[in-house]
Amino acid sequence: MPDRYAVIGNPVSHSKSPVIHAAFARATEQDLAYQAILAPLGRFGATVEAFRVAGGKGANVTLPFKLEAFDLATETTERARAAHAVNTLSFEAGAVRGENTDGVGLMRDIETNLGVEIAGKRVLVMGAGGAARGVLGPLLERRPAALTLANRTPDKAIELARCFSRHGPVVGGGYEALGPHRFDIVVNATAASLAGDLPPLPTSLFGAGALAYDMMYGSGPTLFLQWAREQGVTRLADGLGMLVEQAAESFFLWRAVRPETAPVIAMLRAG
Ligand code: ATR
Repeated sequence: MPDRYAVIGNPVSHSKSPVIHAAFARATEQDLAYQAILAPLGRFGATVEAFRVAGGKGANVTLPFKLEAFDLATETTERARAAHAVNTLSFEAGAVRGENTDGVGLMRDIETNLGVEIAGKRVLVMGAGGAARGVLGPLLERRPAALTLANRTPDKAIELARCFSRHGPVVGGGYEALGPHRFDIVVNATAASLAGDLPPLPTSLFGAGALAYDMMYGSGPTLFLQWAREQGVTRLADGLGMLVEQAAESFFLWRAVRPETAPVIAMLRAG
């Protein structure tokens, strides 16, 4: 019997995680099965427990359960605690370990895949929800010159910046406060693209050679990436690379084998 893993979410049928982990398993010759499990809202804990009792070894957790996964874990890593969210559970004799690999996934995509160093850069993160929170710690660890958080509801960005202020230079506020500031790396961590919307950004946002990164991905460029291109930005990336990188980190946690990500990113891009 292969070892069993799963992604648990609601909705979950759109998840690319089963395809990604199957590709990792083939490439690394690991004997495992990976499925998508729909957890009814309000029954996340029961769904995890049923999977664990049935022999599950670990699970990825996606929206909207990352906070519940954090509460459910009996042990959490420092990264998971900083993010206050868990996307990877490992089941071990009597313990449920909770980790968050989203931030590492973004760092690997920016630094290794896109070849953009974060140290010394002026970084803007748009959004102050779970997606933003998950990447702030790892971004600050890279020692950017400054990290700015901008959010539609400014108070949430101010509060989030306060939570992370002991990790490095971070300020939060509204979009209007961006004013004349220019950034080298701009990360869209809002859900605006989902609604076909764009945060109200000043056109002077990007410094020379800037990277525009959207944590969302779709079949074509997101609205934010289209807008960035119109502003003359040539380094553009959607969140597909981050998705594969966070999966690789989860796979490594479970199997102690690091799969190659480039062939899997290429496979997904090819559709
Ligand atoms: P997630 O866990 O994916 O981050 P979330 O916690 O609901 O989801 O947060 C969504 C983020 O996208 C928030 O920062 C939200 O801004 P508010 O805090 O002001 O609600 C942001 N967002 C959603 N739709 C947006 C839009 N149309 N324009 C700008 N920001 C938007």
